[in-house]
This record gives sequence, structure tokens and C-alpha cells, in this order.
Amino acid sequence: MSEVYLNGRFMPSDEARISPMDRGFLFGDGIYEVIPSYQGRLVGFHPHIDRMQSGLAEIGICCPWSHAQWLAMIEELLARNGSGDLGIYLHVSRGTDVKRGHAFPVGVAPTIFAFTFAINPPPTGLPGSAKPIQVASALDLRWKRCHIKSTSLLGNVLHHQQGIAAGYQETLLFNEQDELTEGSSCNAFIVKHGVISTPALDHQILPGITRLLLLQILRAHSSLQVEERVISKAEVFDADEVWLTSSSKELMPVIAIDGQPVGHGDVGAIWYQAQQLFSAHKFDDLAGLSPTTLA
Ligand code: PDD
Repeated sequence: MSEVYLNGRFMPSDEARISPMDRGFLFGDGIYEVIPSYQGRLVGFHPHIDRMQSGLAEIGICCPWSHAQWLAMIEELLARNGSGDLGIYLHVSRGTDVKRGHAFPVGVAPTIFAFTFAINPPPTGLPGSAKPIQVASALDLRWKRCHIKSTSLLGNVLHHQQGIAAGYQETLLFNEQDELTEGSSCNAFIVKHGVISTPALDHQILPGITRLLLLQILRAHSSLQVEERVISKAEVFDADEVWLTSSSKELMPVIAIDGQPVGHGDVGAIWYQAQQLFSAHKFDDLAGLSPTTLA
């Protein structure tokens, strides 16, 4: 039985109880994080907590936990759940009120919840190791605050399911100007003539921590050219390579969009190079990186 953390206590997951009057349940009124841990080693702990704290501040939830407090709780959670390859889910909702009302309640403490879940061993980027995916494309119909890692994920869930229902593993999203935003649960990169590009940070995308670490690692440890900019739909369909990034999957090579091959329809050479660099440097101390700095 896995153990979870809820409001100051660790307990078996089947003993955890949250009131149906919790605003996380009624309104999706909360912020969450997913931090990967490989054999007890966390990837991007500081920028993950920075992003959560800025999300909480932006939606006015007061949760004054320091990085050290989050780390202590996470270490205890990992100790209770074994130290395999685990995702750590952190969730802070605005808390439980006695009535349902849209206005922020006064004097209500946030609900703090955390659990672990098994993730796959990380991709290595070694020859033959790639697990390519195929994706659908769609018009991005989510809200205009996608930079907030909100627990209100219905827009993302519906887009994700759109791809699954069409027989694919993800959905790549484009705004009304036919510009790339991101995937339903990941950030997106393209490669053309050796240049790696990803949409610049704005309110249309989540400031992904894998994206942040990858950009930092590529700039520090390779001579590959990296750009953060607007990317058109035409460029995506004409790219040599397309990758998606997220904490639990790292770099995912995309070999077809809507059934049309990306490049030669196979995993590209730069994906191998970038994933190998990511694998080599993801545990480096990158404290001080700010996930929410708009480019
Ligand atoms: N998803 N964009 C969206 C919409 C996401 O939901 C995610 C992550 C990302 C990538 O962010 P990061 O690199 O920090 O994981 C981008 C997580 C893992 C989830 O919802 O489970």
C-alpha cells in the first residue's frame, strides 16, 4: 500500500480523506506539480517549487512553505514509498469551506496533498532506445492562463482524449493564428536544418521544467543553435524533427502528426544527441533558474 501526505500527516492512501466541499474538488481551485525522482534523485527540484510558489501567489493561495519544508516532506514521502523511479505529485488547493461560493473564502487553510506514482525508467538517448510517438493536431481551445499549473485541467484532458480517440498518443495544439502552443500535457520543440526551436514563454503555454532544463543544458553543453520564438503550423509540418517534453517522459520524439511523417518518419539524429545531453546533465545543480521568466 502506498503512503500519501495529507495536511501534516503521512498515511496509507486508502485512509486519506478530503471533504467534497474542498474547493479543489468543487472548482479545480488549486495548483499542482509533478517532480520526477530516479532512485531517490530529484530532477529540477528548485525550479519545480519556484513554479508552484509563483502559481500559488498568482491565484492568491497563501501557502508559506519554504523549499526546505517541501524537500523534507518529499524525502519522507520517498522513504515511505521506496526509492524506485517515481513521480511526486504535489497539490495545494484553496481548502475546504462550509458552503459552495465562487468568492475566495476567508480564514480557510489550504489543503496540501502529495503522493508518488511509478514512472518509466528515463530514456537514455542511446541507439535503439527511442520510443517514438504519433500525435494528432488540433486548435488550442483551452483558457488564456495556460502558464498557471492549475488543477483545472479539463481543457487539457479533452484535448488529450481527442488524440487518444484518433488512435494517437498526444495532441499538438495550435492557436487561432496557426502558431504552435504546446501538447495537451507537454511542451513542444521542432528541429529544422540543425536549429532547435520552441515557442517562447507566454500565457499560451506552461513554463515546463523539462523545457527549461533542456534549454539550459543545450546552451551550456552543446554548440547546437537554440531559439525561443513563434513557430508556425507550416514550420511544424515541415520540420526535420519534432519532440515533446515533460517531467515524467523527458524528450519524446514524434514521428508523425495526423498520420503525416515528420521528416523521414523516423527518430532524428538530434533527438539522440539532445536526450543524451539531458540524461548526462539533468541532475546538475540548476538552482536559480526561474521557470516563469518570459523570454
Ligand atoms: N504535465 N505543458 C503542459 C500542459 C503540461 O501539463 C506539462 C506537464 C508540461 C511539461 O512541464 P514539465 O516539463 O514541467 O513536466 C507542459 C505533467 C507532467 C502532468 O500534468 O502530469
